[in-house]
Amino acid sequence: MRVLLINGPNLNRLARRDPDLYGNETLADIEKMVSSRAAELGADVVTFQSNGEGDLIDFIQGAAEEADGIVINPGALTHYGYSLRDALADTSLPVVEVHLSNVHARENFRSRSVISPITRGQVVGLGAIGYVHALEYLVRQASAADQS
Ligand code: DQA
Repeated sequence: MRVLLINGPNLNRLARRDPDLYGNETLADIEKMVSSRAAELGADVVTFQSNGEGDLIDFIQGAAEEADGIVINPGALTHYGYSLRDALADTSLPVVEVHLSNVHARENFRSRSVISPITRGQVVGLGAIGYVHALEYLVRQASAADQS
């Protein structure tokens, strides 16, 4: 099983960017954490980060065919990224949306996600471990589907 771990704008700045909100882990730390949990579960992770919506879409279009699920933190594109949403929907893959911070406890505009209607669900406000929970969900769902 292959999972795409995708991070959007400004998430390359993790650990330097407002650690009170986003934690002390770098994006590399998070990618390593998710990849090592995936290895324990017999899954494989492909990571990608970009500050550009078009680059994210190009990556999704190129990688989706060989993938079984997507974990994505779209950053601020969460709130207005319709092209990104369409690209995710077009894959027909199960998608889990992750936010490090509790977007519902912040500015009003952060409560609305244009991505979430096409996802299986969101993991919000749990910090870096949220990415691991999202991965575990996708692996569990895939193995349940294999057994049915
Ligand atoms: C974020 C929340 C977004 O509102 C924000 O623009 C981000 C990070 C989070 O992980 O909490 O860039 O997606």
